[in-house]
Parts: sequence; C-alpha cells; structure tokens
Amino acid sequence: MHQIFERIHKIGVVPVIQIDDGGKAVPLVKAIAAGGIPCAEVTFRTAQAEEAIRLIALALPDILLGAGTVLTTAQADKAIDAGARFIVTPGFNPKVVGHCVKQGYPVIPGCLTPSDMEQAIEFGLDAVKLFPAELSGGLDYIKAISAPYPMLRFMPFGGVNAANIGKYLSHEKVLACGGSWLAAADLIHAGDFTEITRLCAEAAQIVAAYRDARDNGAP
Ligand code: 3PG
Repeated sequence: MHQIFERIHKIGVVPVIQIDDGGKAVPLVKAIAAGGIPCAEVTFRTAQAEEAIRLIALALPDILLGAGTVLTTAQADKAIDAGARFIVTPGFNPKVVGHCVKQGYPVIPGCLTPSDMEQAIEFGLDAVKLFPAELSGGLDYIKAISAPYPMLRFMPFGGVNAANIGKYLSHEKVLACGGSWLAAADLIHAGDFTEITRLCAEAAQIVAAYRDARDNGAP
C-alpha cells in the first residue's frame, strides 16, 4: 500500500473541507490539527480550492493534504501542483484515475458498484472511497462487497459522523473514514474554529479507541 494511504490509515479520518474564503483556509486546518487530525481534503466544489491548497501546503507542510471532488485531469494537475499529496474523486472516472496513475499521483477513486471496484483493481489500486457510504448500506454493504475483492480497502464517505464512525473503523477492510461533519460549512462561515477543534478532538479520540481495541485483539 502507498505510504500516503498508510498515513491516512494511521490518522483514521479525513475531514472534507469546502473553502469559500481563502483567508480561512490556514486557520481552519490549524483548528483541525489542534483537535489531533493532521489531515484534510480540500474539495474542488469551490473556485477557491486550488488557492486554498497552495496556502495550506505552504503554511502547514506537515499536514497530509488532499484534493477532493476532483472531476477532471486538469483539476488533478492543479491540485498536485498546488501541494496536494493525494487525489479523491466522487465517482470512478477512468480518464481522471488513469491520468493520476500515469502521473504517479496517489488517487482514491469513488467506487460504489462491483464494476467500479473492478475498474479500480484493473488500474492497480488497492484503496477506494465508498461513496455515499451510509445511503448505500453502510458497513453491511462493505462486508458484502469486500468478499470478492480481498485486495481492496475502503474509505467510507457520505453520512459518516461521530455516532457511526466507530462502527466503520472496527472493520478490518476500512482504511479510514471521511466526511464534512468535522468542519461543516456553517461552522466555517461563522468562523467557529473552537467547535471545529472540538469535533476533531472527539473524532480523534474515537479513532484512537478503535485502533487500541483492534491492537488488543478485539473483534
Ligand atoms: C464527500 O465529498 O466525500 C462527501 O460529500 C462527504 O460526505 P458528507 O458531507 O456526508 O460527510
């Protein structure tokens, strides 16, 4: 497994952040890191994404920074050029995934169906984003779909929160979880970085508890 994915696994959770105001990018990621999560995925759902990645990568080089909602090869190139270390896509776009693989960009493609999973395997990938996780059946779906694909690890995104993240992390096929609940748009708009740090600390504590439980041989 790529070392970036090993790091994501250790951190356990990837906050998805949507930046409308570039000035908030660095304080936001500082607030996330203060809660114990040195990682963030900046979504390309806003025009400020590339600038935000550049600002964060420059100011906080130790943060494991990714780019999300990457829909085109051009966005993937811009994200990596700006300092992103990995690319996340919502669905399986062979053009974008193929480009990332060719360029050597670590890529976590969104996959939902067996056909998506098989395309990921075809590209030599071993980690995929399961999106939307909760709506598609959650952990039961992961248990079912992982049976024919033992080489894959899953990153559930979509509807993951503090109440259900532990359920996912308890399963050995789950690499890490991700979601926007750690830095919701309304909190970012309000500049409520204290609450964002609290939510991240809560999630980091859950990640640590599940990792400890697994290390101590719990099922
Ligand atoms: C994503 O971009 O991966 C998803 O929107 C995250 O889903 P969530 O907003 O339900 O956490």
